[in-house]
Amino acid sequence: MQPAPSPAQRADCALGTHRVLEPAGALPQSAWRLDNTPVARSNELLCSVDVLNIDSASFTQIAAHCSGEADAIAAHIRATVDARGKQHNPVTGSGGMFVGRIAAIGAARADRETLVPGERIASLVSLTLTPLWLDEILAVDVATHRVRVRGSAVLFASGIFAKLPADIDTDVALSVLDVAGAPAQVRRLAAPGQTVCVIGADGKSGMLACAQAKTRVGSAGRVVGIVPDDATAGARLLLAQGYVDRLIVADARDTLAVLAAIPDALPALADLVVNCVNVGGTELASILCTRDEGTVYFFSMATSFTAAALGAEGVGKDVTMIVGNGYAKGHADVALQTLRDRPPLLAYFNARYGART
Ligand SMILES: NC(=O)c1ccc[n+]([C@@H]2O[C@H](COP(=O)([O-])OP(=O)(O)OC[C@H]3O[C@@H](n4cnc5c(N)ncnc54)[C@H](OP(=O)(O)O)[C@@H]3O)[C@@H](O)[C@H]2O)c1
Repeated sequence: MQPAPSPAQRADCALGTHRVLEPAGALPQSAWRLDNTPVARSNELLCSVDVLNIDSASFTQIAAHCSGEADAIAAHIRATVDARGKQHNPVTGSGGMFVGRIAAIGAARADRETLVPGERIASLVSLTLTPLWLDEILAVDVATHRVRVRGSAVLFASGIFAKLPADIDTDVALSVLDVAGAPAQVRRLAAPGQTVCVIGADGKSGMLACAQAKTRVGSAGRVVGIVPDDATAGARLLLAQGYVDRLIVADARDTLAVLAAIPDALPALADLVVNCVNVGGTELASILCTRDEGTVYFFSMATSFTAAALGAEGVGKDVTMIVGNGYAKGHADVALQTLRDRPPLLAYFNARYGART
């Protein structure tokens, strides 16, 4: 039998299978380990990377494991990338995205003529499938989940990315683009007059989802947010700007607490529930907030398919449950425009996630 071809011998594949080291036959996202050699093959884009935006569920898990210590978090990320050739958290299964500059353009890329070396871009595909080479980790910002690095990443022919907007702070754009699927999907799923419930409403995706939901449901509809604490700046802004009609203060893992709040806050239950939390164990609360034949959109990466499926069955709820696909056509534009159209929300994101001097 012929030995399997090494990555160098494999034909370049649009999906990046030529970079898979193990297991054989996997695609880059499901692979355990990728070849992260920082050289562009014919259909690849090589980028110099300066910032990683670690997915919130992943960062929260890593930070808890490392007692919130920046140096320990950096060492943990380094170890993952060394072992896997990508920042793919083996516990949460999630990644994040990067910001960098175009460093080299493969000769066979169809978009070659439109790309400019040195242009600043943000990846719109997950770090869980992106070959990543780290020269150095410079700083970990525990508050924003951002990691400053010196490194290189590879985008395959199928790997989408966005040129960074000139009118929005790069760090803010990075925070928003990471969760761009949430406001874009809410814009699709919510309809005039409906009731929408957003769980984890005062986080990045939650606030964008609330703002989009309120615009979609209009004055005849209602948006209700669930937050652990309504004294946060984000929670206060949601109410002050009318992005939500009401906030429920509850730990969404405490299903009975959410259940107790429903008769008053969501008497007819929600047509659409959007789960934007960064911790596990909130599936049942999401399902119980949803009306029969309503929809739950699980954007959270901490969602358990088993807990959601068996939980709905267990409480006899006929609801449509949508896996939070991070991609929706035009999602980057929708997410950035959500900020541009709402100056108070943009100001909040600038203050909370913008460049720190
Ligand atoms: N589907 C995708 O493609 C995709 C892409 C990117 C991210 N994600 C996932 O989307 C989720 C949200 O991301 P993000 O960046 O928006 O996160 P984030 O900014 O950290 O927001 C998470 C929010 O959840 C709240 N929360 C945490 N525990 C809660 C609880 N027990 N009950 C109620 N609320 C709770 C947090 O409140 P506190 O701050 O007060 O704790 C925070 O407001 C994460 O799971 C992330 O991994 C998915």
